[in-house]
Amino acid sequence: MILNSNFKIVVVGHVDHGKSTVIGRLLADTSSLPDGKLDEIKISSEKRGMPFEWAFILDAFQSERNQGITIDTTKVFFKSKKRKYTIIDCPGHKEFLKNMITGAASADLGVLVIDAVEGIREQSRKHAYLLKLIGISKVIVLINKMDKINDHEKIFNQLEQDIIKYLSSIELNAVNIIPVSAREGEGITTKSLKYKWKNFTSLLETLDKMDLNSDNDSQPLRLPIQDVYKFDDRRILVGRIESGRIKRGDKLIFSPSNKFSEVNSIEAWGENKNTLAVSKGFSVGITLKDQLFIERGEVASHVSKKDMPIETDIFKARVFYLGTSPLTVGQSYLMECGTCSVKVFIQEIISIISTDDLSHSKSPDVKKNQVAELVIRSEKIIAIDEFIKISATGRFILINKKRIVAGGLISMEGYADQRALETSFSKNLTIVEHRVSIDERAKRNQHNGGIFWLTGLSGSGKSTIALDVERRLFESGYQVYLLDGDNVREGLNSNLSFSPEDRSENIRRVGEVALLFANAGFIVLSAFITPYISDRARLKRNLSQKTQFHEIYIESSIAICEERDPKGLYKKARIGEIKDFTGIDSPYDEPINPDLIINTITEDKHSSSSKLEKYIHKNLGFLLKT
Ligand code: ADX
Repeated sequence: MILNSNFKIVVVGHVDHGKSTVIGRLLADTSSLPDGKLDEIKISSEKRGMPFEWAFILDAFQSERNQGITIDTTKVFFKSKKRKYTIIDCPGHKEFLKNMITGAASADLGVLVIDAVEGIREQSRKHAYLLKLIGISKVIVLINKMDKINDHEKIFNQLEQDIIKYLSSIELNAVNIIPVSAREGEGITTKSLKYKWKNFTSLLETLDKMDLNSDNDSQPLRLPIQDVYKFDDRRILVGRIESGRIKRGDKLIFSPSNKFSEVNSIEAWGENKNTLAVSKGFSVGITLKDQLFIERGEVASHVSKKDMPIETDIFKARVFYLGTSPLTVGQSYLMECGTCSVKVFIQEIISIISTDDLSHSKSPDVKKNQVAELVIRSEKIIAIDEFIKISATGRFILINKKRIVAGGLISMEGYADQRALETSFSKNLTIVEHRVSIDERAKRNQHNGGIFWLTGLSGSGKSTIALDVERRLFESGYQVYLLDGDNVREGLNSNLSFSPEDRSENIRRVGEVALLFANAGFIVLSAFITPYISDRARLKRNLSQKTQFHEIYIESSIAICEERDPKGLYKKARIGEIKDFTGIDSPYDEPINPDLIINTITEDKHSSSSKLEKYIHKNLGFLLKT
């Protein structure tokens, strides 16, 4: 079965560059207007003493649709021989953004209209950028009003060059750039007979040539589970396929519970009764080979690594805020993504993005109708996607007191997919009991083992303090060992980079090593940036059951660390010689509730070390030497 879902286009461009004329032409020339509509519009403009304009067609649709309903998006439809299209039209860019981001409308492709006489204007750039912002990666560019210029080829070629340059700078892919005259119908639904120094295809031909199904099918499967029905002893999992396709026999993984099984049957009704495979856009019921306990909110996907959704409890988002009272750091909302609902917190307001000049600025809050870049944390691990990869599971809404207050698009830039950290591949193990107990070791050492984990920016003073305290404790007779970032990365973790995933793996491994040391009776000082709140929470969760774990925040500021720059790395990061440098182009999540804060701006080296030493004395407990 091939699903030819409706292909959605959004047409954008500077206000007078001919957007509505293009749409009017498309509707009329594909005979997509209701019978008599065109004549009716022509007569009515004649009556009003106005020469007919193709743009009136869209106006007519807009006024019809807007009657009585407060919807600021107009949807119009047209059909080619090949497929059905929907054009989404929004009057202004604010409405456009709001609708796109909240999911009221979602487009597969953008058409950017540029006036051949005026060329690329500020608004053309802005609109192209907005397409990018909402995750559209492909555009068709129409150089319109070609009838108004003389030196067709030369002007077109120059514009084409400028457009390609701009679009590639914002990573938008121009599928085709076509010279057209929408008013005269040149190049819209049929090849232009006038502008043919190259073999240009028309807008409609270009659209029809786009292979949507291959796009759909090559996308990984996402089936967010809506409900689980029990019939006899069978459990039918029901949901809508948001991307990819599913067939009988497929091996599935459900995220975030990470349970596996195989599709036993696809339950369909009526004419689809014997369906073996279903693709994007369809609602299905499936049964599994194994009786798994799966709940609403889980996402089914195929099992291979590149096919699975991201598992995380933290992500970045571009959010369009609609709430009446400003959004601030620390606020919590209910987030809905796919069929999953989860409580989330605003961790950081990175910037407000101006929809006028697209500049970024700092602000302590986000006001109604602003677009902001945020870091959002969820109270548990959820399965999501990056909007740019899979739009349906890469967008979400935020709800406050049952009202939608924001819509957002997910990005994982700077943050790790935590799936690998949450999944255990170890099987068939038999754990041995040591014959020397932890207590016996503590008795011999005359103190407990434990982990004192120092987190902070590079240059904040972690190693300096830890080296000092290691020396002091050693001299007092303690078994103590420092695990330090640079040292461990040279050996055990020399195969790890500074990508978000590798940083998290770095911390996971060091956490395990620290635990071994602590179990061996040592006081472990651990000096790693540990930039992610999720990693620190995971350490605490996993280690504090088995030994004592203390989170020590070595607080400083980027400005001060950069001034100190003991290894000269900030300098290199600023000139782009080091990428993904913490605090410059990679995040550092400040600890929310650390066990101890040592501020190295206000405290010198000696008092910082003394503070940590005292804390260890006070908290290590049991047979502690004095
Ligand atoms: S962590 O992020 O994975 O916790 P870790 O503490 O192990 O980092 O290593 C940080 C040290 O690596 C820094 O003190 C610095 O000397 C060095 N380093 C090299 N590249 C980077 C980078 N891109 N970001 C941060 N530190 C870096």
